[in-house]
Amino acid sequence: MGETIRQAYIRKNPRSAELYPRFEAVFPTGVSHDMRVADPFPLCMARGQGARKWDVDGNEYIDFGMGSASLLLGHAHPAVVEALIKAAPDGSHFGQPIEAELEWGERVHNLIPCAEKVRFVASGAEATMLAMRLARGYTGKEKIIRWESHYHGWHDYAMPGNLPPFDVPASVGIPKGTLESVLVLPPDLDVMERTLATSQDIAGVITEGSGASYGTVPRQPGFVEGVRSLTQRYGVVMILDEVITGFRWSPGGLQQKLGIAPDLCTLAKILTGGLPGGAVAGRDDVMHILARTGDSQRDRFQRVSHGGTFNANPYCAATGNAALRIAATGEMQNRADRMAERLRRGLQKVIEQHGVPACVYGESSTFHVYFGGGSIEGLDANTLKNVPATIQNGFRQALQVRGVDLMSRCSGVLSGVHTEADIDESLQAFDGAMKAMLEEGLIRQS
Ligand SMILES: Cc1ncc(COP(=O)(O)O)c(C=O)c1O
Repeated sequence: MGETIRQAYIRKNPRSAELYPRFEAVFPTGVSHDMRVADPFPLCMARGQGARKWDVDGNEYIDFGMGSASLLLGHAHPAVVEALIKAAPDGSHFGQPIEAELEWGERVHNLIPCAEKVRFVASGAEATMLAMRLARGYTGKEKIIRWESHYHGWHDYAMPGNLPPFDVPASVGIPKGTLESVLVLPPDLDVMERTLATSQDIAGVITEGSGASYGTVPRQPGFVEGVRSLTQRYGVVMILDEVITGFRWSPGGLQQKLGIAPDLCTLAKILTGGLPGGAVAGRDDVMHILARTGDSQRDRFQRVSHGGTFNANPYCAATGNAALRIAATGEMQNRADRMAERLRRGLQKVIEQHGVPACVYGESSTFHVYFGGGSIEGLDANTLKNVPATIQNGFRQALQVRGVDLMSRCSGVLSGVHTEADIDESLQAFDGAMKAMLEEGLIRQS
């Protein structure tokens, strides 16, 4: 056997390797986000342009991470860069409303079906945290139903049920009272109905629009529509987490695609053109719980309070407007969907040519590879998310050394600037990665 995947990774990345001890000296495991941990070291990135990015060693990648799915328009889209450069000299913060914020809010209002009112926040996690508080404040009830394995950010209320085993929160440090206020259920409408019928204390239900982890665990057909009708029937707030699906599944997100309107939805990522930020948008009467009315009793004792120094700051408002102006046409989404379909089909062929027990799936502009069998029919989150780490890491690194990068695990997202040539070049890398994994015995032919 020639060079292993790991040896090639180390050989190609001397500068990333050299920097890593300095990262480790400053940051736990050398990173600022759990998902960036890599063995023996993560790649240190230098710049991006369109569908490609380059690391500090000068290696080029066709990128299927796309800023954790925030870059529907690709890296450094000229309109986004121009908006940022234009806004920069005028100041970064006034602690007061600005016109760019108004324009940005109007864009969200016009694009997202449920967005009668909008509140900007500083991240996707802040959006889901605020949406849960709004549901509680509006209904006067305590508990939020969430689905096993769905991802809603890293805050305390999003940790129960995030990772298997689902009865143990994904992090230590979560107060008991918080755990008791979150009901983790399998994504099953019958279980949901039984729970709603027997519990008087449910404020809301939060659902990741794509199914868990941008569709790694796909939702059953009709699931989101079923959640909509049950939440309506039982008078609880439906929160649709569109941090991934918003502006991606369609200009109006998953809700536009399905023709439903949740009571609240959460947005981030594409919303800001790939800069920090997020929003909660929803029905006027639910969002009104945030409003100051001048009635001092009501405003002090019956209102949801919310702050955030950098909400709707001028730079993110500028890039958000630039991105949403383009996202509104739907062209980027159509192209990304078409390229993703081409990639999924090509990748399935590569898998079949190698006779590997794996399969490719994914909706909209996403793709997922499951190493464990030829179909994901009937497989649950435990199985779909528990592909051995050696396979996940080997796959990602085998692709990286061939000039392709993923978003996480064995999954990726596309942008509206990936081309057919990018896809075809990537398929060659996928082919090489399968060969290398077979050679090393990471996977076997069926
Ligand atoms: C569906 C979903 N909700 C919430 C979040 C949290 O967003 P952020 O990382 O901006 O806090 C994410 C992040 O990936 C997400 O995918």
